[in-house]
Parts: sequence; structure tokens; C-alpha cells
Amino acid sequence: MTPTLAPSSRVQLTDDGKLRHFLTTEHLPRSLLEDILDTAASFVDVGGRAIKKVPLLRGKTVVNLFFESSTRTRSTFELAAQRLSADVLNLDIAKSATSKGETLLDTLRNLEAMAADMFVVRHQDSGAPFFIANEVTPNVAVINAGDGRHAHPTQAMLDMYTIRHYKGGFAGLKVAIVGDILHSRVARSQVHALNILGAEEVRLIGPKTLLPVDAEALGATVFTDMAQGLKDVDVVIMLRLQKERMDSALLPSEGEFFRLYGLNNDKLQFAKDDAIVMHPGPINRGVEIASEVADGPRSVILNQVTFGIAVRMAVMSMAISGQDSDSNALAASTESMEGAGGARGQR
Ligand code: CP
Repeated sequence: MTPTLAPSSRVQLTDDGKLRHFLTTEHLPRSLLEDILDTAASFVDVGGRAIKKVPLLRGKTVVNLFFESSTRTRSTFELAAQRLSADVLNLDIAKSATSKGETLLDTLRNLEAMAADMFVVRHQDSGAPFFIANEVTPNVAVINAGDGRHAHPTQAMLDMYTIRHYKGGFAGLKVAIVGDILHSRVARSQVHALNILGAEEVRLIGPKTLLPVDAEALGATVFTDMAQGLKDVDVVIMLRLQKERMDSALLPSEGEFFRLYGLNNDKLQFAKDDAIVMHPGPINRGVEIASEVADGPRSVILNQVTFGIAVRMAVMSMAISGQDSDSNALAASTESMEGAGGARGQR
């Protein structure tokens, strides 16, 4: 995990506290996170209808900008936008003019010129979605779909939705996050969200080399031993080894990692009998999780993916609604300035 980037609430929220961009779970009010979960709950059954559409984003254009590979996040954002009746453009970065040397800012300006209403951004550099949110015109919303090691807020919220669905709430819950915490944007966003939503205890379990030095400052308890860390937890969240973000050999071998930290049925016995097992994906069988657990009765890994569509529908519809109210407020204040002889042409 990276050091804290400049937050956030001011960039993410409108003056009256509505979602404007969704960049990080850090520092957001509990009521807003609960609002996302409640709004998502109202969208879950859309996926089961014969016609899987609601008209909330009809006439809006959503651009998926994925500078890093993705299966789940990109597909579920696309489905979420389609189910909200938006027009969706998936920019193929490998075939875009970025590969001919166009800067990110120039790419953005061109997409804005096509009247995009929302950018969904995944980027290998921590902070890229913040940069974009600060650059776009006021009527464009930016959703972070994962930036470097920093944040993956919609993944964290779909995880929160899954936990609330199976456990009924967060009070009294002990949640363990296991594996490569150091390189995980998901873990960071989960820790913030779990603490904001009132979980009793958040535990981070892994080898010392894969634990961040600021783990306790984040609001988590650190364990290097699975038996101790998993004892009596309600939720186990496994993470893969993010080798693409590792600077050097931080592990003896994958086999050794699996022996010590890989979740199999034997280790799962340390958790509560009704503990659920989660994973943001992609899973690496035999590295951080055994197939007997991944495919077992306590795994809710694929349910997380399903809930992800509803959660992303919630975030997108709330951000567009926040943008619209902000744009209306801006237009009203511009009109009153113009009426008073003030400046024209503000966007
Ligand atoms: N969980 C997650 O972000 O998966 P993808 O990389 O496939 O989007």
C-alpha cells in the first residue's frame, strides 16, 4: 500500500454532501457508504428481470478507460452502465492514440469533446483518477476502477455489500484480510470502508514482507500467523500475490507462501463455523487459496461479482445525480452572476 494521497472529500462530494466523483472510500461519511449499499440493494433484482434495464442514465455517455488489464471490474462496469441505459464507450487503450504518444490530458480533452458524462478509470499509477477528476469539466464524473496500489473503492463497496448481505451488518464483526496486503489497493479501500461502517475488528494477516508499515495507523490489527489471525473471525478475505507490483523477491516461493498463508479447509477451521470466504479475484488456486475452499460451501466469491453490478449501478447513478445537481447549482449561480453583470462563460 502506498502512503496516503491527498484526500478527497472535497473532490468527491458536492457542497451539499452528494457523491460527485468516487475515488476512494477514505474519509467518506458513513451515511454515504450506507446510501451506496442501500441504493445497490434496490438494483440487485434488475439482473433477474426479463429486460435488465432501468432508464436512470438514458442519454448519458460513459467512457471506460482501462489502462491496466481487468476482467471483473471492466465487464461489470460495462454491464452496470448498460443496465442503467447509458451509452457505453470502451476505449481500447492499446489501439488508442495514447500508444502514439498522446498525453492522458489530451486524450481526456478529446473524449470530453465527444460529450462524455462519466469516465471510469483504471490506471497503474496511484493518483491518476484524482488527477483526472481535478482536470475534467464540472459536468463529468470520474469513478476510480483501481489506481496503482492506492484504492479500488467500488471493489471495496461490493465487498461491503456482500458482507452486509451475509452477515446482516457490521457491528461486532471480525474481518481478516489475508495475503499480499502491501501491494493491495483493494485491502486499503476495504480497511477504510470497514472502519467507517463500524466493523469491530479488521485484521491484516501476511508475512512481514507483505504487510505495510502503516497498517495499524490505518485502523487494523496485524498478524503474521494464520492460526492467531483467523481465530474466531466472521469473514476471511483472501488476496492474490500482486507480482506485477512487487519490486523485488519478497517471498521464498509460492509453495512456501501457500504452506503458511494459503487458505485450505484446515486453516479455515480457525475461523467461526459460519465464516464466509471472499476474494476480489482473480484467484490463483494453490497459491493463496485451495480449490476446496474457493469452490466450497463457504465461498461467496462469485456472489461478489454478481453484487458488483448492482453496486456499480448505484455508484454511477449517484455520481451522475450529484453531477447534475452540482451543474444546476453552478448554472444557477452563473445566471445570478450574469444577472448581476458578472462573468460569463464559466463551465
Ligand atoms: N477484482 C478486480 O479488480 O478484478 P479485475 O482486475 O479482473 O478487474
